[in-house]
Amino acid sequence: MKIIVTGGAGFIGGNFVHYMLNKYKAYDIICLDALTYAGNMETLAPVQNNPKFKFYKADITDRLAVYEIFEKEKPDIIVNFAAESHVDRSIDNPGIFLQTNIIGTGVLMDACRKYGITRYHQVSTDEVYGDLPLDRPDLFFTETTPLHTSSPYSASKASADLLVQAYHRTYKLPVTISRCSNNYGPYHFPEKLIPLMIINALADKELPVYGKGENVRDWLYVEDHCSAIDLIIHEGKVGEVYNIGGHNEKTNLEVVKIILKELGKSEDLIKYVTDRPGHDMRYAIDPTKIHHELGWLPATKFEDGIKKTIKWYLDNKEWWQHIINGEYKDYYAKHYSKK
Ligand code: NAD
Ligand code: TYD
Repeated sequence: MKIIVTGGAGFIGGNFVHYMLNKYKAYDIICLDALTYAGNMETLAPVQNNPKFKFYKADITDRLAVYEIFEKEKPDIIVNFAAESHVDRSIDNPGIFLQTNIIGTGVLMDACRKYGITRYHQVSTDEVYGDLPLDRPDLFFTETTPLHTSSPYSASKASADLLVQAYHRTYKLPVTISRCSNNYGPYHFPEKLIPLMIINALADKELPVYGKGENVRDWLYVEDHCSAIDLIIHEGKVGEVYNIGGHNEKTNLEVVKIILKELGKSEDLIKYVTDRPGHDMRYAIDPTKIHHELGWLPATKFEDGIKKTIKWYLDNKEWWQHIINGEYKDYYAKHYSKK
């Protein structure tokens, strides 16, 4: 079995590469990644010398490069993690989100049609469903919830999902789609809520909480996301969408306070800053379908996952210090000075 993992130098893709190489010793795992600001070869350093792993630096929007890799490798399965993934960046600069997230998905699927594969899996997000109101805790996203996006990021991911479904219907491409809630865990880029708060708290820097911090996210430990995708690519039904989430809803303020408590830091570090435009209030996944059809359940409770995550950031300071001392510094200064 040969699997191309696009975006494998990023947060979830990197974790998936590790997970698959560890679980399936006979599989060939090929990472295709453009190494944008979010891609990091240090995430792949532990598998660099594994003979079952190979890396190609390539952009999924570059048709020739993608076709060449497919021609050479003849993969069985594609799992597409490659994306621009940060909502705040999509608000500042939507264009690249349309290019990578929509056009790139189209190029990958054209390559799948041209060279033939057994499965194309699209890694999508619960953000395609828009948001839920805070005063209706009884409501959850199911796979049939209408797409209703808020940010250029979520709109680009929803567009890609529609394209994937169209390629299935029109060309019979054997596709599956998963829509996952917010992930956390090792190798998470420091611009996202949880790593940003851990890293700032360690340095006794302000923790910038958007608005009142009352927005709710449904947190999933990244390894549980990997196990769900593993199940879907092996046992999921072609043409289907699967929601992935674990009923781990927390307000942003709750998350930040848990991190501060774990690190023994004062809540005085919290600074309420200008809210994100169009900020989604609540995401909450109903994972009944993947549970009933494929037997998937998340293994990690938030209370345990956050402890493991904090420990990872404490044990791997070099990994994130290289990032925060690089070009990310300019992004941070620019983004948070406006708030
Ligand atoms: P990330 O930003 O950490 O990593 C993205 C990776 O894609 C990077 O390695 C980057 O170099 C690569 N990439 C970007 N543009 C590319 C291009 N044009 N060609 C090739 N490679 C390119 O993202 P992540 O958080 O790991 O998210 C992975 C996927 O999961 C995305 O599709 C995202 O929409 C989805 N998702 C993420 C979350 C989350 O909480 N992080 C939740 C649900 C779904
Ligand atoms: P983020 O990690 O960017 O993920 P997403 O927007 O995809 O859910 O943000 C998670 C939540 O944390 C979201 O409600 C925005 C909020 N947030 C802050 O309050 N402060 C910050 O500095 C960041 C990056 C996010």
